[in-house]
Amino acid sequence: MDAQQIAQVTEMMYALRNPAGIPTYPIIFIGLGVLTFALHILFVQLMLGTSAIAIFGAFNNNSYWRRLGSAMLEISKVSVSVAIVVGVAPLLFVQVIYDPHWYTSNVLSAFWVIAFIVILILAYWAMYYFYFVNSKNKDKTVQPKARWSILLSIALMLVVGFIMHSLTSAMLHPEQWKEWFVPNGVADYSGSKLHAYNLWRFAFFISMAIPVTGAMLVTYRRFKSVREDADHAYLNWASEVGKKWIKVGSVISAVLYVAWMMTLPETAGNFATSFWGIAGGVAVIAFALWAQIRLQGEAKLCSYMALPMALVIGLVVAISREMLRYGIINDTFHYDFMDYKIVMDWYSTGLFFLTFAIVGGSVLSYFLTIAWKTGQTVGVYTPSPLVNKMGTIAIWIVALWLVQFFVVGFYIWAK
Ligand code: HEM
Repeated sequence: MDAQQIAQVTEMMYALRNPAGIPTYPIIFIGLGVLTFALHILFVQLMLGTSAIAIFGAFNNNSYWRRLGSAMLEISKVSVSVAIVVGVAPLLFVQVIYDPHWYTSNVLSAFWVIAFIVILILAYWAMYYFYFVNSKNKDKTVQPKARWSILLSIALMLVVGFIMHSLTSAMLHPEQWKEWFVPNGVADYSGSKLHAYNLWRFAFFISMAIPVTGAMLVTYRRFKSVREDADHAYLNWASEVGKKWIKVGSVISAVLYVAWMMTLPETAGNFATSFWGIAGGVAVIAFALWAQIRLQGEAKLCSYMALPMALVIGLVVAISREMLRYGIINDTFHYDFMDYKIVMDWYSTGLFFLTFAIVGGSVLSYFLTIAWKTGQTVGVYTPSPLVNKMGTIAIWIVALWLVQFFVVGFYIWAK
């Protein structure tokens, strides 16, 4: 592309930008976008990996795999909910600072954006169907029923992920948007095509399900091993499978990462050999090394560190991924989200962080305490007075939040 064509693309992107501006510094949006994307993809990977174990368990006669499949299904159905909830967050951030790009890619594939929701509902439903049909089974070693439904679920989840991947990829090609909208001079209003993809990139993100789920298995053993009724032989076996998955999975993912870097578009310049280009791959392979060194024997504390480690590695990859986008859109096409007009709104910025820290913190710590204690208790768990108090405080904080929301709303309305 010559300089004049690039200048036209730059002008088009700025023309599409929201003239109303943004309510706080763009760096805050991008930081939160990267952080929440790392969380989203971690739970996506957990959901896919644990579903894969549920499938493997369902089609395998080995009693350990059967039990593990059933236990991992519990994690999968929670992970899918969390993945969806923490998927909304990066969606909000990316649409604020990359609005010309996000909305264009969504409009150009509008059919798929709407189908995304329908397919996701079906995938979710299929997973729960498998769960409900089999959850009453006390013996976790018998062959589960309706195995087709969990297979269908994972296949549909992958379609959902591919749609997201394609939308994200289309954002990176502003030079092609016009051609996609008006192919051969005739406008295409159907939104029925997924215009861009890179199978290596998609495979990389999906393959990270292997080491991330390995980390989950190592944590699972550590968590369940303190119960009085723990079956240590089974748990140790599960943990060994997990360690293998971290090591082998990280190597597979690192290879796919390299393949992704080797197939970047020309507009990415020399990103593959830049600091962040290399850092992403190094972080992935470092997970295998960490597991080899730190997950020996009992590894009481390090077993609990496996999932946070996976998050840190995901975070490095998320930064690399964001630097790639910035490199293409800013360095090549000269669109810089950092020069967004700021119409500072301290109240909403403050409210966001306070809600996150205080409301989110109190409610989440209560839920997590209950979940933790329930998982480690044999029989029925009865919360202590302290835990009950945490619940009461959390409800009060949510109530106060609602009150301030309406009070401030009415105050502004009345002004
Ligand atoms: C449950 C199935 C889902 C799967 C398997 C999945 C998978 C993925 C993958 C693989 C990516 C990375 C794409 C890439 O960079 O190439 C991604 C990105 C993303 N996903 Fe999901 N996702 C799922 C659900 C959702 C949901 C329900 C939402 C939000 C409502 C969501 C929001 C996002 C966002 C905002 C991005 C990043 C967009 C960007 O930064 O450009 N995802 N997802």
